[in-house]
Amino acid sequence: MHYFDLKDGVLHAEGVSLEMLAAEVGTPTYVYSSATLRRHYGLLRDACDAHKDALGDALIAFAVKANSNLSVLATLAKLGCGADTVSEGEIRRALAAGVPGERIIFSGVGKTDAELAFAIDVGVRQINVESSAELERLILVAAEKSASPAIAIRVNPKIGAGGHAKITTGGAGDKFGVPVEEALSLYARASASPHVTPVGLACHIGSQITDLTPLENAFRVLRDMTETLRADGYSVTRLDLGGGLGVPYYGDAETASPADYAAMAARVLDGLDVEAAFEPGRLMAANAGVLLSRVIQVNERTDGRRFLVLDAAMNDLMRPALYDAFHDLKAVRPRDGDAIPYDVVGPVCETGDTFARDRDLPPFEAGDLVVFMSAGAYGAVMSGEYNTRPLAAEVLVDGARCAVIRPRPTYEQMFAREPMAEWLKG
Ligand code: LLP
Repeated sequence: MHYFDLKDGVLHAEGVSLEMLAAEVGTPTYVYSSATLRRHYGLLRDACDAHKDALGDALIAFAVKANSNLSVLATLAKLGCGADTVSEGEIRRALAAGVPGERIIFSGVGKTDAELAFAIDVGVRQINVESSAELERLILVAAEKSASPAIAIRVNPKIGAGGHAKITTGGAGDKFGVPVEEALSLYARASASPHVTPVGLACHIGSQITDLTPLENAFRVLRDMTETLRADGYSVTRLDLGGGLGVPYYGDAETASPADYAAMAARVLDGLDVEAAFEPGRLMAANAGVLLSRVIQVNERTDGRRFLVLDAAMNDLMRPALYDAFHDLKAVRPRDGDAIPYDVVGPVCETGDTFARDRDLPPFEAGDLVVFMSAGAYGAVMSGEYNTRPLAAEVLVDGARCAVIRPRPTYEQMFAREPMAEWLKG
């Protein structure tokens, strides 16, 4: 569900016309809907609260990597949402947006000593340790501070899942976490150190998972491990169930609902007396954002191919080029006429800069505005300035209000980041 709808023949984000926004801010521009962010958080919050007996006071920690704009984070922070972070930069963003340290989880396969020290200093809720090498470094870093941060051990349950091989993380060969046996021995090792406090286990098996079965199997692994650890006398009070729940990128796509997801987690954890955490990224943000773009021209070639050339490109939205991802394309002011096939492309000098091939779309003309739907997660965050294309602007809408929450940089600002080597001046 989202709040991007046609009103008087023009696509709006909540109460704001996208035509008006394009005129004021230019294109390409990411546009986010606050009401949609709130709705998605609320759905999962309510679903978790309906199962407090099994999930405890579950923490919903938004995966900051999905959309790290400070205003987006602040919108969620005001609702009580936490943050799942994977770098010092993301922890700093979460704090700057008003997420208290006790609601910040620090995950990631390669945290530096400096990042671990920073996480301890700001008092994050827990550090998810992903390897024995990391555990040993964390113990040294914490010892230096006479600290004992709460940690969870990230398990690789050998259950990979997700919408694409490049976003599957729980498979046996994937770089994330440690196998079950090793996780159990790391828990024992951590318990023997005064400089870390093991509180639980974590897993995250992949992204854009639309069927609950692999998630359920992974949660069962965590349950079994909890029972094993407790039988050995260790305390386990938290289970971090990761993110990964998919979203409908097509109108009629089948995806498990947040309610079914929380109910399944509650079923698996029933009677275990743990506090659950979830790390949803896509679920919160994907359908809360669109990428607004203008048609530069329509290339009708004599060989019959028809290219819709947009002013957005792979540098703005990498998902189609990187994962063959599907993003629905809509006209901001739809024209009458039968759908015809287009190849939808950007201006970047690579064939990979293709958003869609042979997509049946209503007729377009140069100057028309379009949006890529479901672009609020892993959109702006993954963008770059390839071909010296300024980063797309970002706008947040809330009812009839809107604000530019990341202005498009000027060329002067872009070049100012590259001081000329002294000997090349003049
Ligand atoms: N927790 C951890 C430890 C993660 O690595 C991730 C995502 C999440 C939570 C959030 O997963 P989500 O709920 O969003 O599925 N760039 C890719 C997705 C990469 C996901 C990486 N990890 C894409 O555009 O599809």
